[in-house]
Amino acid sequence: MQVSDLVFDANRLLTVKNLYVKYKSYWYIYHVLNDISINVGLGEKIGIIGESGAGKTTLLKSILQVLPINGKITSGEIFYRDVNLLKCSKQILLEIRRKRVGMIFQDPLAALNPVFTIKDHLLEVLRYANETANIDKSDLINIALDLLRDTLIPDPERILNSYPFQLSGGMRQRIVIAMALASARELLLADEPTTNLDVTIQAQILKLIGELVEKRGLSMILISHALGLIRKMTERVYVMYGGNIIEEAPTFKLFNEPLHPYTQLLFKTAPKILEPLSSVELRGNPLDYRNLPNGCVFHPRCPYGDSEVCRKVKPHQVKVEKDRTVYCHIYGS
Ligand SMILES: Nc1ncnc2c1ncn2[C@@H]1O[C@H](COP(=O)(O)OP(=O)(O)OP(=O)(O)O)[C@@H](O)[C@H]1O
Ligand SMILES: [Mg+2]
Repeated sequence: MQVSDLVFDANRLLTVKNLYVKYKSYWYIYHVLNDISINVGLGEKIGIIGESGAGKTTLLKSILQVLPINGKITSGEIFYRDVNLLKCSKQILLEIRRKRVGMIFQDPLAALNPVFTIKDHLLEVLRYANETANIDKSDLINIALDLLRDTLIPDPERILNSYPFQLSGGMRQRIVIAMALASARELLLADEPTTNLDVTIQAQILKLIGELVEKRGLSMILISHALGLIRKMTERVYVMYGGNIIEEAPTFKLFNEPLHPYTQLLFKTAPKILEPLSSVELRGNPLDYRNLPNGCVFHPRCPYGDSEVCRKVKPHQVKVEKDRTVYCHIYGS
């Protein structure tokens, strides 16, 4: 059984519909994703922004179904092409993870095993990504070397025989990108691909990812706190707050005129492109996922959130323009 390349809607390479995800601890249930819907078209570059804890990583992990053991998708649908990822066989899910969708995780070191060389890592993913093709080991090594060259790794032959601990942080990050690219034939999920790197290397690596995505004609979801880079590298953005999508728009429209009060605050208080969004100053307490507010999830911290409707009624989707959506009572939901 294989995923069909033939019949599908090019605007919907990936579709997430009304997704709810919870984490459980011994005492509590955390309602971390609440009615999330997003879609990614073929070749489209999507950004997801929102302060720390908004649920961005949980969303990407839910798509690939690599949530931590205490995380559970409780309802919703996730389609990749025509395949329902929440109902398909394990084999199809593996095919999608190994050959179609690659993910750069927020913590790249966790993706590298200290006792394996870089060659071991790359050959493993390449072997799976090319399992149906008749490719022998020496050809796989050549593909691995090409991937290292693509990610601008100097002296790739030497690096191939190195262990992760022998490489710098920036170099390890490139290895993780090369591994994700080996399986990302269609879609790259990049979750803050430059955390823990210094600012100049961050910009270099993001530029590199942008170029590789372009060269390979991939679709991408990029999560980053670097708003300037989101602006440069994506075509459409979803803004998340408290496990909800609160605004969606083409990137240039969002940056020219953010509509949701949260997005407005975010942009106003993050003047430097690499400033973390977590530094945003909002009134009220951070969100408690055990006990989400009634009404609009943002109302306790919103400058306009004192009205009864904000406190009691969850805003519906308001289509402000054909390609712009906001979830806020100001716009008349
Ligand atoms: N395994 C877990 N168990 C319980 N809660 C969790 C677990 N993983 C994440 N959370 C909580 O879920 C919420 C969303 O986390 P998530 O990592 O998805 O946020 P994020 O938007 O990616 O944040 P950041 O920008 O800091 O990476 C946070 O409050 C986090 O503490
Ligand atoms: Mg995260």
